[in-house]
Amino acid sequence: MTHVTSPPQLRRAVCPGSYDPVTNGHVDVVRRAAGLFDEVVVALLHNPTKQGTFSVADRLSLLADSLEGIDNVRIEAFAGRLLVDVCSELDARAIVKGLRGGTDFAYELPMALMNKHLTGVETVFLPGDPRFEHVSSSLIKEVAQHGGDVAGLVPDPVHAALRTTFS
Ligand code: PNS
Repeated sequence: MTHVTSPPQLRRAVCPGSYDPVTNGHVDVVRRAAGLFDEVVVALLHNPTKQGTFSVADRLSLLADSLEGIDNVRIEAFAGRLLVDVCSELDARAIVKGLRGGTDFAYELPMALMNKHLTGVETVFLPGDPRFEHVSSSLIKEVAQHGGDVAGLVPDPVHAALRTTFS
C-alpha cells in the first residue's frame, strides 16, 4: 500500500482574553493548550474605547513575564476585532478556553456556537484547575484593591504590579 504524505500543517490555537491582568488560571490553561497544539497565540483582545485597569502595554508585559519558558507560545494584542477574524488572520483552527464551572459554560457556549457559525472555527474547553476555580481578573482586582492577599492566585509579576497599582 502506498502512503501519501501531505505537508505537515501547523496546528495553531488561540487563547483569547482581556488579561486585565493574567491570573494563574489563565497560565494553567495556556500551558495545557501549548501541550495540545503546535503553537498557541495568546490573543489580548481589547476595546480601544474602554479603559482597563492595566494599560495594554502593561498587560502584554505581564503576560510575557508570566508565560516565560513555554516555548510554543506567542502573545499578540488586537484592538476592536472579532475573535473569528483574529483566528482567520492567524490561521488558527481552534480557540481554547478554560471552564471554571457551569456558569462559565452557560456564558461561553453561545459564543462558541456563534464563532463556529461565523467561520467554522472550533472551541476547545479545558476544565479549569479546581485550585483556581474562584479566580477571575475582576475578583483578583477587587480583593487586591482592598488589601486582600492574592498570592498564589496570580503570577509573581502580577502580584507585584497589583501592589504598585493599588498601594
Ligand atoms: O477575558 P475575557 O474578558 O473573558 O475575554 C473575553 C473575550 C475577549 C474572549 C471576548 O469578549 C471576545 O471574544 N471578544 C472579541 C469580540 C467578539 O468576537 N465578540 C463576539 C463573540 S461571539
